[in-house]
Amino acid sequence: MSKQRVLIKIGGNALGRDDTTVADLVSLQKQGYLPVVVHGGGKTITEWLERMDVPTRFVEGLRVTDAGSIDVVVAVLAGLMNKRLVAEINAAGGRAVGLCGADGGMLRARVKDPELGLVGAISSVDAALLETLLGDGYILVIAPIGVLHDSQGAGTLLNINADSVAAEIGAAVGASQFVFLTDVPGVRGRDGEIVPELSAEEARGLIAEGVIAGGMIPKVEACLEAVQRVPLAVILDGRRPHALRDCMAGQQVGTRIG
Ligand SMILES: Nc1ncnc2c1ncn2[C@@H]1O[C@H](COP(=O)(O)OP(=O)(O)OP(=O)(O)O)[C@@H](O)[C@H]1O
Ligand SMILES: [Mg+2]
Repeated sequence: MSKQRVLIKIGGNALGRDDTTVADLVSLQKQGYLPVVVHGGGKTITEWLERMDVPTRFVEGLRVTDAGSIDVVVAVLAGLMNKRLVAEINAAGGRAVGLCGADGGMLRARVKDPELGLVGAISSVDAALLETLLGDGYILVIAPIGVLHDSQGAGTLLNINADSVAAEIGAAVGASQFVFLTDVPGVRGRDGEIVPELSAEEARGLIAEGVIAGGMIPKVEACLEAVQRVPLAVILDGRRPHALRDCMAGQQVGTRIG
């Protein structure tokens, strides 16, 4: 039987101080899973933009990205964060390769909304390179950078929300599970409490009411897309020790959407 592919999204602030996610990824690989990781970099990008004196602004959870900030976004996401994660996985005994959407022409994108600047919406995924590497058993670590495919400006790098990339890459590789590690224990409902289970309909309602806001919007939307193909997607606190291991073992953690 072919190995199960699991899509794991790691938020930019989801790794705890004594992080166990890397160790959990390596154990999953040893157990015979094929983990496909997409990482964000929200907080680190903001720090670097501040260091470089580039102002930053969000609209509905998406970072407005101008010509000045895209260089920092690419350098931090596809460089620093991607390579650190790959190095940590390999140092922990795993076998990982780091990529971004430019590699192998993986993520073709268009400008999502001119008001957001160089922010991409995915047009298509070419998973050929991913298949080759998965065939060799590598853990894939993917930074959410896409490439503009319009006749004008083709080849321009675009910043794409990592949750949206996770949904598309997970679908393209036929992931059987989707796990979103973030910096909150799950999705908060109207009363501010974490909701253990959300139907697609309830999730849409909470977005419409503004209870689900900011960066949680693209994340819940990514889950809604994922559950069109798999039974459920889970959002949980990646800073909690062994959050990933426990979730994969079937423990009820965070918010399950399905
Ligand atoms: N209803 C809600 N329940 C929980 N968190 C919410 C809700 N509405 C908005 N949020 C916000 O969404 C944030 C998570 O999204 P955010 O984009 O900041 O992180 P991430 O996606 O894990 O990381 P990155 O964007 O770097 O990949 C939470 O920290 C919280 O502030
Ligand atoms: Mg986010």
